[in-house]
Amino acid sequence: AQGDLKRPDTLKFEAVAHSTADTMTVAAGYKAEMILPLGTPLNSGIEDWKDNREQSAESFEWRMGDNHDGMWFFGKNGNAYDAKASENSLLVMNHEYVNSSELSPFGYYVTQDNDAAPIFQNRRLASDVRREVNCHGVSVVELTRRADDMGYEMVPDSKYNRRITSSTTAQLAGPVAGSALVKTKFDPTGYQTRGINNNCGAGLSPWGTYLTTEENFLGVFARGQDASQLSAGDNYARERYGAVEDFPGWEYLWHTPEAKDAKIADEFSRWDMTAVGASAAEDYRYGFNTFGYITEIDPFDQNSIPQKRTALGRFAHENCAYAPVEQGKPVVFYMGDDARGEYIYKFVSKAMWSNSDIGGGLKAGDKYLNDGTLYVAVFNEDGSGEWKALVHGQNGLDAFNSVLPFNGQDEVLVFARAAADAAGATKMDRPEWVSVSPMTGDVYVTLTNNKYRGVRDDQPVSASNPRSYQSSGKALGNDNGHIIRWAEAGGDHAATSFEWDIYLFGAPSDLSAENLSQLNDNNDFSSPDGLYFDPRGVLWIQTDDGAYTDTSSCMLLAALPGKVSDGSMTTTSAGQSTRVGTSASNDNIKRFFVGPEGCEVTGITMAPDFKTLFINIQHPGNTWGAVAGGSIPRSATVMITREDGDVILAESFDTA
Ligand code: FEO
Ligand code: CA
Ligand code: CA
Ligand code: CA
Repeated sequence: AQGDLKRPDTLKFEAVAHSTADTMTVAAGYKAEMILPLGTPLNSGIEDWKDNREQSAESFEWRMGDNHDGMWFFGKNGNAYDAKASENSLLVMNHEYVNSSELSPFGYYVTQDNDAAPIFQNRRLASDVRREVNCHGVSVVELTRRADDMGYEMVPDSKYNRRITSSTTAQLAGPVAGSALVKTKFDPTGYQTRGINNNCGAGLSPWGTYLTTEENFLGVFARGQDASQLSAGDNYARERYGAVEDFPGWEYLWHTPEAKDAKIADEFSRWDMTAVGASAAEDYRYGFNTFGYITEIDPFDQNSIPQKRTALGRFAHENCAYAPVEQGKPVVFYMGDDARGEYIYKFVSKAMWSNSDIGGGLKAGDKYLNDGTLYVAVFNEDGSGEWKALVHGQNGLDAFNSVLPFNGQDEVLVFARAAADAAGATKMDRPEWVSVSPMTGDVYVTLTNNKYRGVRDDQPVSASNPRSYQSSGKALGNDNGHIIRWAEAGGDHAATSFEWDIYLFGAPSDLSAENLSQLNDNNDFSSPDGLYFDPRGVLWIQTDDGAYTDTSSCMLLAALPGKVSDGSMTTTSAGQSTRVGTSASNDNIKRFFVGPEGCEVTGITMAPDFKTLFINIQHPGNTWGAVAGGSIPRSATVMITREDGDVILAESFDTA
């Protein structure tokens, strides 16, 4: 049935209705099955998940972690990466964070082991923290085609099955490696750190490795009172990343377990960035600086060390998408920093692409990802845009900068947010996933929502972030989010200027003042997050929504976008001028799947034969994913196939 598939003009499946049921709904003719939920053993010898919140911390070195997020299907041919192989694969997946109350007997804040009457003293058990540390990171799972040829199943005990956690040793690679800013008691030379953390969206490299991302690493760190021991610049830089003095971290409190000896003290004090020693080599004041990177993993080499690619900057990385590669041209990666009012970046490699590097593993990564130029985006009011280089000595990034002195490229990269401020970048409505259209080369980014837009003075409405929902004359921020896109000048992804428009605005269909894309019941949504162009040019949009879940739980939509020049200037109901793409119709954007209650739909990948689509259900709210007879909801992967075994969206491609 599968010929030379070209992008269709219309989507022919019947759109899925809004749903708030605690179940999955997928388009008619398709099958959605849960696989690999939290706690699934990857090897024999690890007992099955039970609802007792007592699985040992150590066992999670061989179990699926929590909060499944970005993932990628790596076709496997023998022992090697094969971008076209669909028979077997390594499914590589992020575990973004933990729901402590679903993993530990008493959740947060407990001091006493095995105690029916826990004492809440803002100090946690070592065993609970170890379990949570091991529930983060990445899983590598070998999959094989099922006997009935419909979808895949895990290969237990595969030599490839592997967990990388927040305690696995990782290498700092690129310009920041060895910098004074990443020296810690663990490695006073500044080349290694422990753990990858808060891994959110995913990326693939053109040579076939996995790119994971470190997003909300702020939440697991604490900071006491130490400003008097730090330089003004050091203090400012931490505050710019949210770590102000007396910052307790979020609810995790990984730095708090009681230490019975020095080794245990070191295991947990690394999550406390307070400067307590005489120098950085004696404490973990710079442990915080060793997180926030794009991290490269070779899933085919189970002994390989994850490489934190510092040349791509340090911020709350959402995902990482490469532009189509061309022999003899630089490799270009696009990235978003997901926080309110943060920025969109791109990295242009110094090395020129060679097709001979496919399958080159981390050595190819060393070639393309350790040296290059990081840029940040400026979106002008007239629909034009420019990329500002974050290079020491350019754009005010020098020792005389009035906000933060930059003494070298390591400081520019570790404090990329401050460098982007100095370069005059445009503050966006929470940049989440990036994906590049294989049809047009246009780059798409979800701007999920931003409650500060039009509310805080530093984030006024603008052409590129044009909505702040108004109620009773009061600005309430951008609730529903939008998807921005741009075309690089001359179609060259290394260009330093571009033209942009807004492809799509999220909105409830009955809220006319907000519904600038004329969405209807078949396709309205809020808070776009996951984003993926499949190789046939179909754009898949996932939602992580706080504004519309009373009408429908989070969802997956399929779309067939046009191109940037579709955009024309228009004016919002609040009088803001912007540039909007062609409006959505019933035929070119449709709801394909709705997840269970309380969940986020995130992470997406497809087998190369287009017959299996994988998505993740993260933090389901009720009992979805619970073991039979149990009640603890679990994040899990969902495998979607067509009931007739044909390719996903076969009805639109006329192969059915
Ligand atoms: Fe982890 Fe911005 O989503
Ligand atoms: Ca996300
Ligand atoms: Ca989100
Ligand atoms: Ca999430």
